[in-house]
Amino acid sequence: MRAVGHALKPSWAGLLAILLTGASSVQAVQMNIDDEHSIKAASKKVALNMMSYYTGMNPGDNPGNLPDPYYWWEAGAMFNALIDYWFYTGDDTWNDITQQGMLWQAGDNMAFMPNNQTKTEGNDDQAFWGFAALSAAERNFPNPPADKPQWLEMAQAVFNTQAARWDPSSCGGGLRWQIFTWNNGYTYKNTISTGGFFNIAARLAKYTGNTTYSQWAEKAWDWTSDVGFMTPDYHFWDGASDLDGCKKMNKIEWTYNSGVYLLGAANMWNLTEEPKWKNRVQGILDAGAVFFAEHPKDVLYERACETVNTCMVDQRSFKGYLARWMAATTQLAPFTYDQIMPKLKATGIAAAKSCSGGDDGTTCGMKWIDEKWDKTRDFGQQMAALEVIQSNLINRVAAPVTDDKGGTSKGNPDAGNVPKKPDPATLMRPITTADRAGAGILTVMMIIGIGGSAGWLCWD
Ligand SMILES: *[C@@H]1O[C@H](CO)[C@@H](O)[C@H](O)[C@H]1NC(C)=O
Ligand SMILES: *[C@@H]1O[C@H](CO)[C@@H](O)[C@H](O)[C@H]1NC(C)=O
Ligand SMILES: *[C@@H]1O[C@H](CO)[C@@H](O)[C@H](O)[C@H]1NC(C)=O
Repeated sequence: MRAVGHALKPSWAGLLAILLTGASSVQAVQMNIDDEHSIKAASKKVALNMMSYYTGMNPGDNPGNLPDPYYWWEAGAMFNALIDYWFYTGDDTWNDITQQGMLWQAGDNMAFMPNNQTKTEGNDDQAFWGFAALSAAERNFPNPPADKPQWLEMAQAVFNTQAARWDPSSCGGGLRWQIFTWNNGYTYKNTISTGGFFNIAARLAKYTGNTTYSQWAEKAWDWTSDVGFMTPDYHFWDGASDLDGCKKMNKIEWTYNSGVYLLGAANMWNLTEEPKWKNRVQGILDAGAVFFAEHPKDVLYERACETVNTCMVDQRSFKGYLARWMAATTQLAPFTYDQIMPKLKATGIAAAKSCSGGDDGTTCGMKWIDEKWDKTRDFGQQMAALEVIQSNLINRVAAPVTDDKGGTSKGNPDAGNVPKKPDPATLMRPITTADRAGAGILTVMMIIGIGGSAGWLCWD
């Protein structure tokens, strides 16, 4: 784990307090969960600590990247957390940084496939940036200058590139984890990749009213269920290799898979008002109870790794996405409010108690169930704490906007298909696999009517 420098030095009074009490921190994130101002103040402290990891806005640095060991996708997740932060608190401290980072990483096709990342980028990585763009559109986050890519347009670009990757050549469909054949994980079809696509499709359907998106959301949902990544009682496994037809399931259950489908289903419910979507939202929510502890009651934990201390870098942030998406779900499916809020509240309180580490007492632990700092620090767990603390403001903010109800972000249904001239040396694959994949993609593109140039085909 990366050691971080502390933003603040302890005060003399604080040092004295340590000497007198032996306490390990001079201050903690104090929060009264029933008080709006207190939640906002706590959110700011936690966010400030989170932003001490990020240096992309400094001259000569690289906007939209986090330092090692944090992967590129987590920076996309961070911008989503910052968009949420601004919307929940009204504090625009990090708005410019957010816009700068997202535009920088949008890449030539606006689909968050910048050249520096494409050699290792997975569908799930791309989706996390797409989520941030969607949140910006849904929350009317300040729009980029007119000559720059727009939030909705970027989300559509992500959708278009992913729809073209829908892959019926094995397991009956779904998205592969990796985009490119040369990456480990290309033969793995997984829930977060297909779920990310489902989430984006459902939210675009709600935002734009375009039925192409809702049809894709239906398709992605049905496949997740048919292949068995989602059980009949709404538990989500991690994925499976397509080499044996996705038969041998990796049955790890992560919080974020549940969350990514929850919010997608809530959008579909809000859009269609079909009982089946209401049942699905309810089912995911009920099944998600496994992620909340008995003691302390209703506190979220990553049960697949947290109790045995094996959560890897990426995994330390997952709980935050479930919290983020549960909060958003209360707006789109208000019938869930009474079930969700006690959990966000209990978890928010516990998370804030964990944020008492470091010299300034704002470093958050991984294990919120400890209700005190667990002596670990990590960017992702700091972001996760921010998400769950600020999500307690959800009943004080407006519902997401849509194209015809208050939305201001400009869309472009054809975004993302910009013909690219990639460097053949780094991006072309061996002929055989390229032919096979290319043919599959071509078929899909013809079905959904997306044009493409030869250059783009070989890029994708
Ligand atoms: C790609 O990497 C180069 C070299 O580190 C850097 O200068 C550039 O800003 C990066 N581009 C993006 C979009 O991050
Ligand atoms: C859809 O969302 C809006 C905004 O939050 C909410 O007022 C409305 O009740 C929701 N519709 C349904 C069917 O739940
Ligand atoms: C709906 O979305 C599809 C897929 O992106 C696009 O081809 C079509 O033009 C869109 N329709 C409208 C009316 O925007």
